[in-house]
Amino acid sequence: MRMLVTGPKGFVGARIMDAQKGAVPAPSLRDAKEDTIRKLVEEVHPDVIIHTAAISDIPTCEKNAEASYHANVEIPVWLAGTGIKLVAISTDQVYSGCTEEGPYPEDRTAPANVYARHKLEMEKRTLDANPDTVLLRATCMYDMPMYGVPNRGNFLVNMLRSSSLSFSSTQHRAVTYVREVAGNISKAVLLPGGVYNYGSENELTMLETALWLKKELSLSVHLQDAGRWHNLWMDCTKAENMGICFRNTVDGLKKCIADYGLGQ
Ligand SMILES: NC(=O)c1ccc[n+]([C@@H]2O[C@H](COP(=O)([O-])OP(=O)(O)OC[C@H]3O[C@@H](n4cnc5c(N)ncnc54)[C@H](OP(=O)(O)O)[C@@H]3O)[C@@H](O)[C@H]2O)c1
Repeated sequence: MRMLVTGPKGFVGARIMDAQKGAVPAPSLRDAKEDTIRKLVEEVHPDVIIHTAAISDIPTCEKNAEASYHANVEIPVWLAGTGIKLVAISTDQVYSGCTEEGPYPEDRTAPANVYARHKLEMEKRTLDANPDTVLLRATCMYDMPMYGVPNRGNFLVNMLRSSSLSFSSTQHRAVTYVREVAGNISKAVLLPGGVYNYGSENELTMLETALWLKKELSLSVHLQDAGRWHNLWMDCTKAENMGICFRNTVDGLKKCIADYGLGQ
């Protein structure tokens, strides 16, 4: 299967390129118009497009909603409009305004920021353009830095490098090992069109998760309670029933620790 990967040098895209041998990297789509996308697809002739390019920083989207709309809605809608199967990464932020405690199934959305509203619009419009589109709602992801790829802060790296961090003692939210996200893409491309919660689950709060990691790696980071934060806790049963399984948050962290020999 010929895979075209957008954002191949990004945090997630680089790991997908690593995991899915033979995948074709797309050029930057920052200035893309509908025509650019159509020409790219005609040149590459992919069987499937894995779309990771995005503006994924929430404050950046708040500050520049127009740029967010181009990156997070228009580009994926144009990709879906080519008629090639699209697998696009969405976000657990679509649950950011839910009033229930969770875990949240796919149909219980309430986006509370520009990024989340744009991602939810992207989900609906890409499915309208091509009902075969697969939307994967991801949690926050982590990994150690990768050679040749710009390093962005993430839960694990921040825990290893910071002297002091705050996490909520009430917020239920998972973090997912991005290598699992990248590895499961070969199964995700076979899913029927629709929206799927795609990542780890977590029965611990974020502060409990951080305290577990601090103890596991004997870290010196000082952890403080950030108080009450909204849950972002996904129910991943739908993807599991289709054979896409992730370790829970603590087991995913254990796998990453073992992969990099961090506990030695
Ligand atoms: N990282 C997370 O923890 C996380 C959590 C939930 C969901 N997600 C979603 O997962 C996907 C991948 O996230 P990521 O962390 O890999 O993102 P990222 O590293 O921040 O960005 C991925 C790529 O997007 C491209 N890009 C940046 N600005 C753009 C713009 N204005 N227009 C078009 N393309 C642009 C860049 O590629 P070029 O430099 O080649 O243009 C960049 O390498 C995104 O859809 C994100 O919303 C990420």
